[in-house]
Amino acid sequence: MQHEQKRFCVLILAAGKGTRMRSKTPKVLHKIMEEPLLYYPLSELRSAGFNDISVMVGFSGETVEEWIKNEFPGINVLWQREQLGTGHAAKLAQEWWKDYENVVILPGDTPLIKADTLKKFINAHVEKNNRCSFLSFDLTDPTGYGRVIRDGMSVRIVEHKDATPDERKCREVNSGMYVFSTEALSAVIDDLKCMNSQKEYYLPDAVALIEKNGGRTDAVKASDPTEFLGINDPNQLAEAAAVMKKRILDKWMGSGVRCNDPLSIWIGPRVCIGEDTEIQPNVQLWGETSIGSGCRIGSFTVLQDSVLEDNVEIIGSVRIKKSKVGESSIVGPFVFIRDGAELHQNVHVGRFVEIKKSIVRKGAKVPHLSYVGDADIGEHTNIGAGTITCNYDGEKKNFTKIGNNCFVGSDTMFVAPVNIGDNVVTAAGSVITQDIPEGALGVARAKQKNIEGWSSRRKIHKGGN
Ligand code: UD1
Ligand code: MG
Repeated sequence: MQHEQKRFCVLILAAGKGTRMRSKTPKVLHKIMEEPLLYYPLSELRSAGFNDISVMVGFSGETVEEWIKNEFPGINVLWQREQLGTGHAAKLAQEWWKDYENVVILPGDTPLIKADTLKKFINAHVEKNNRCSFLSFDLTDPTGYGRVIRDGMSVRIVEHKDATPDERKCREVNSGMYVFSTEALSAVIDDLKCMNSQKEYYLPDAVALIEKNGGRTDAVKASDPTEFLGINDPNQLAEAAAVMKKRILDKWMGSGVRCNDPLSIWIGPRVCIGEDTEIQPNVQLWGETSIGSGCRIGSFTVLQDSVLEDNVEIIGSVRIKKSKVGESSIVGPFVFIRDGAELHQNVHVGRFVEIKKSIVRKGAKVPHLSYVGDADIGEHTNIGAGTITCNYDGEKKNFTKIGNNCFVGSDTMFVAPVNIGDNVVTAAGSVITQDIPEGALGVARAKQKNIEGWSSRRKIHKGGN
């Protein structure tokens, strides 16, 4: 692809309103597998080696522009304030694409297109020395699409709404994906007319105009129609999500990830999974999540933007958000780990525990019913059931530091800020408000008093009622 990179730029048309979605969200930001539609062509293009990419925005363009700047910095944003058709959008971008030899134009609402298909399409354009190529495909129900009308060697596109009954019978349709020689497109772009049923400037009309000028044009027929599914309504959105979901699962199962019930498992497109990992039913993996090899992820677990190192066992019903779990750790069931928490190697966190923005060091255990927030727990320390780091004083969050090899008695409250040395023991039920030096026992609870004969006196008293 080296020579193409210098000679090609890509324009994505994403200014349309998407009326049939009946939503305030611009169409290209509707999500499949938790990523906006626009994510998919952009990441395919990046993986195919394209760097010179512009997106034409318009309807709710500010929101689309902001998303592009955050997620794909370096991609150029162009504006079509008034949406007068795909030909008009291409014309508005002319100042940008005129400096390249060829411009690839893609719709922003077809998320299933694959990099490989685009590469082959572009190579065919180069090999045949075309002035214009577009991808076409066959559909049993072509309703709504532009029809590809072939007449001997010549080819043109007629929009569904403008087609004659005979033309509508044609099953070969336009994908909306083109490569134009910029020279050939420049020569005809001002000649596009809007005298049609939609009163729009149609980019497909450029194909016939280029041919009229003597330029070689070609419809390159693709074999898999699913790659060109255009998203125009919520049904098509769900249809595309189902295709993408299966595609992603097939990829991971093909590389050694075991999913016994793949239909119930959701894996986002940015997730990475090592081989020999097993995913149980009803698991969701989203965002920039990375999972090592030899892991086991139990049912009803949701991981988002998190890292699991090798051989981690997630027992089930666990939620981990923006956090990291170290090698050979065991987590769950019913655990919430969040906001930059870091569990090092061989940590055990389980059964109704929340860990927030804390470090739990090598071999430490937080096995039952605890809240650990804004804390650092030392190596091989054991946190007893019901322990809480009281990190919030009503105004700000305070820090708890607990050393190595400590034994924290059940139901200890650490009123932060507080610093606990190595080898400390706290007595169960203690409310720790002061630092504890290394090796000490911290006891902070009322002394037990036994009142002899109290139960029998209580019975007599009750009988009097
Ligand atoms: C278009 C093609 C049709 C093809 C179909 C494939 C035209 C006139 N027709 O029809 O031949 O079969 O795609 O899916 O091009 N857009 C803009 N500015 C505009 C209008 C549209 O940026 O003024 C963008 C939309 O956001 C969308 C893309 O262009 O991403 C295609 O527009 P859309 O209105 O969906 O065209 P279709 O009717 O699907
Ligand atoms: Mg469309």
